[in-house]
Amino acid sequence: MIQDIDIADLKKITELIQVKYGYDFRNYAMSSFKRRMLRILELKSLSVESLLKKLQEQPTFIDEFLDELTVNVTEMFRDPGFWRIIRDEIIPGILLNHKQFKIWHAGCSSGEEVLSMTIVLKEMGILQDVQLYATDLDTTILEKAKQASYPIKNMELNEKNYIRYEGKGSLKDYYKEENGKAVFDKSLLQNVTFRKHDLVKGEVFNKFDLILCRNVMIYFNQTLQNEVLKKFHESMFKYGYLAIGSKESLIWCEVANKFLVVNNEEKVYKKIKD
Ligand SMILES: C[S@@+](CC[C@H](N)C(=O)[O-])C[C@H]1O[C@@H](n2cnc3c(N)ncnc32)[C@H](O)[C@@H]1O
Repeated sequence: MIQDIDIADLKKITELIQVKYGYDFRNYAMSSFKRRMLRILELKSLSVESLLKKLQEQPTFIDEFLDELTVNVTEMFRDPGFWRIIRDEIIPGILLNHKQFKIWHAGCSSGEEVLSMTIVLKEMGILQDVQLYATDLDTTILEKAKQASYPIKNMELNEKNYIRYEGKGSLKDYYKEENGKAVFDKSLLQNVTFRKHDLVKGEVFNKFDLILCRNVMIYFNQTLQNEVLKKFHESMFKYGYLAIGSKESLIWCEVANKFLVVNNEEKVYKKIKD
């Protein structure tokens, strides 16, 4: 088992991925990046040299590699209090100005967050009026998100979160059990566009009334977080909302004075200046 990996080896791997595949991990937070890299070496029984060779010679390996490198942990209605704020304050705030609006889930992982949003919108009777975009760097996880089918063992936590969120019914109203999976009603995803998007490259592809990027920037260093937050600001309509993870913050970043804190505990902000 490999106990450690030095900076020079990490640099060799990141450079190869950047040059050959165009993914730039130089500004990811070092400690978690290193832990993930060690985990891949152990999981695949590879040395640094054999990993470099595999990345160099087997282009198909890159998707599997990215899937292991990124942290995909997620839940439905993660932080139920946050979802109550979305339903009771944020969406009513958006509806004051427009009946139809757009939401971006950046770093959507396997889709539980966007699925939760569609359930919130359905229960508010406005799902048909909202366009949702769900993006991630990891194409393997995006495919899972499109399926909206999850191991039934995950549903206990999801159901608990939904009850704490105080939804209108039961989460069971939205899925069928098939071969040990909870298969969600596909009509929930009718207005969701899934697409690959790399926050590091920072392409601005649309303008949104609400952006959720929760538990993603925690894996970036401050330089990258700052760049990503500037792009989010650019991708939002004035008076739009930005929600980040409860352990994340934007008060220190360059665009901080262009936002108002709406809820400090759940890290919801409102864009007040262009
Ligand atoms: C921990 S999950 C967060 C999922 C969900 N937002 C939540 O809070 O439950 C982090 C996600 O960010 C994605 N990610 C990491 N780096 C990214 C990048 N550069 N661009 C887009 N997504 C990225 C990962 O692939 C992963 O699916």
